[in-house]
Amino acid sequence: MNRTQRPRSGLTSHPGAGVPRLCGLATLFATLFLAASAASAAEPATIAIDVAKPGHAVPTTLWGIFFEEISHAGEGGLYAEMVRNRDFEASVVPAGWHVDGTHVSTPRGWRTRLWFTNDLPGWSQVEDGGAEGQIALDSSSPLNDRNPHSLRITVTKRGARCGVANSGFWGMNFQAGQWYDLTFYARTERNRHFGLIVSLESIDGKEVCERETLPEVGGRWRKYTLSLHARQSDPKGRLVITLSDPGTIWLDVVSLFPRHTFRNRPNGMRPDLAQMLVGLHPAFLRFPGGCVVEGCTMANRFRWQDSIGDIAQRKGGFDLWGYYTTYGLGFQEYLQLAEDLGAEPVYVINSGMSCQARRPNETVSDADLHRYVQDSLDALEYAMGPVTSKWGALRAANGHPAPFPIKYVEIGNENHGPAYLKHYKIYYDAIKAKYPHIITIADTRLRDAPVEYVDDHFYVRPARFFHMWDYFDDVPRNGPKIYVGEYAVNRGVGHGNLFGALAEAVFMLDMEKNSDLVKMCSYAPLFENVNQPDWPVNLIRFDSSRCVGRSSYQVQKLFAENRPDVVLPTRVTAPEVSARDIRVHEFYALAGLDERRHEVVLKVVNPTATPVAASIDLRGVTRVTAPGTIFTLGNANATAENTLDHPNFVVPVKSVYPAPDPEFTYHFTPNSLTVLRLPVAMR
Ligand code: AHR
Repeated sequence: MNRTQRPRSGLTSHPGAGVPRLCGLATLFATLFLAASAASAAEPATIAIDVAKPGHAVPTTLWGIFFEEISHAGEGGLYAEMVRNRDFEASVVPAGWHVDGTHVSTPRGWRTRLWFTNDLPGWSQVEDGGAEGQIALDSSSPLNDRNPHSLRITVTKRGARCGVANSGFWGMNFQAGQWYDLTFYARTERNRHFGLIVSLESIDGKEVCERETLPEVGGRWRKYTLSLHARQSDPKGRLVITLSDPGTIWLDVVSLFPRHTFRNRPNGMRPDLAQMLVGLHPAFLRFPGGCVVEGCTMANRFRWQDSIGDIAQRKGGFDLWGYYTTYGLGFQEYLQLAEDLGAEPVYVINSGMSCQARRPNETVSDADLHRYVQDSLDALEYAMGPVTSKWGALRAANGHPAPFPIKYVEIGNENHGPAYLKHYKIYYDAIKAKYPHIITIADTRLRDAPVEYVDDHFYVRPARFFHMWDYFDDVPRNGPKIYVGEYAVNRGVGHGNLFGALAEAVFMLDMEKNSDLVKMCSYAPLFENVNQPDWPVNLIRFDSSRCVGRSSYQVQKLFAENRPDVVLPTRVTAPEVSARDIRVHEFYALAGLDERRHEVVLKVVNPTATPVAASIDLRGVTRVTAPGTIFTLGNANATAENTLDHPNFVVPVKSVYPAPDPEFTYHFTPNSLTVLRLPVAMR
């Protein structure tokens, strides 16, 4: 979880030199790629593709996504809720934690920054036209036991209005013509009733919608709803709820959603951010983490049961990346998102240990472990059980009678050591006994345990991925399949840049080339709210109203959109040169075949600052039958990057390429990833 390069189990367990040589096609590919390193600057750069000798299939599962609640990816991000701290629980420190000024420590002593600076983060008092009063956090008469705190507004002096405002997550984005649905719970003393005034406003108090009055709010806790129509746009607006008469009112679970969410799901996702995910064509969605699965204490782990059903009944908590999360984006929303994206859910379960990087961590005792195992089985039953089962019935009651099929379960995140081995076996047996179809994923290679897939993580500098162009070639094929669950260039590239993205592309070429072994991969992290990043480099950056896919996003998208059906043997000769002070090959390449379209799909990375001419030989091809399609992602400046202000700085350019002869020369532009798609006829 730290920000430094940490090749995970893949590196530690990678056999390196001396492993038994591979047999069959794997050997052939390995040898062909190794030719690249043997080339010298004097030799012409060439790419020879054996189109007539297709290799292994490229799995449809290869390119997926990994979502974790980090950098406000969900809360204040993908999850479309506009109110921050809607349940007034954001300033609650878990029992047993110790507050020390600006910091807080878990009972075992892991220390982090206190995630709030006042009792009511997100909320501020409004007093207009001579009105006076106070707002305060209150626990005197809770809405329910899962939401023990509420907001008390006391108006002491009549005026224009007195109450509260919420500016959401660095401003609420209101768009002219759109509807916004407000829901909240309220109660009053002695059955008094008030007219509650609600408005959507710009930060300086100008109204963005008609001011609405909800008459007769009061009595015991009751839910109220109101629809508001924005007549103006404002990306940095706020919600204001006030009263004008003196008296006291309590509010809880104050929620404002745009009516239009992704697929118009209630409690749904922000459409522009979800659309960015659609653009990646993810084969799978790994969720909910990452370290949040583990928690900084066991109680702090992602608790799926607290994250389902009515939002007023959910129990939020401290997200170990440094903020409060309501769990509005919960287990069912993740499953629904996967379904809406057409992606396989990959559910990561806690393995009976809190995060081992946040020391000292907790490991559940042998006597208690069965409860945690059962909790994971219950989650799987919630997702997949028949509506007649206990948890399946709850899923149906929560709006999804059909099961959400789960095929992949990861046991733990970045866990290791003897306790992990012991726990892994217990979880594995329990899952397989009830769900034999599930493919389990381990965090490390384990001796004496059945490991089907292993999840390797890589956070590196560009040089490392350039040097890993053949990394998986020599890994024996008799071990577990590999899921590269987290990878990114996140060092030495600022917030990310094209050079880092090209290094990732080289690593992706290696994963695609070795996709008989590497079955799944996902970049990490996926999202960053630019107002509070917790991680240096992230794929998609956004604020309240805008989003941008970094150059790495464009690389991911190009690979997903140009995944061939089979890999083709690709012999590359390219000299070693310097690029940005590191040794790289002049280019890296891999071809595959799109069998349905009869197209050769060739991907080439030129990480150098100069154009590179390569002679390309499509062996076994009689002719290129029609003009090809070319996508070029590049820039003269290797440090170029897309920003919120300039989101289309580094984006693929599509062009038509007149049908070449089967042997032709192509000039690859500086700092580029090029995808050539050429329809071919074979001998
Ligand atoms: O992606 C951010 C963090 O990196 C994940 O939570 C964790 O699995 C890894 O250490």
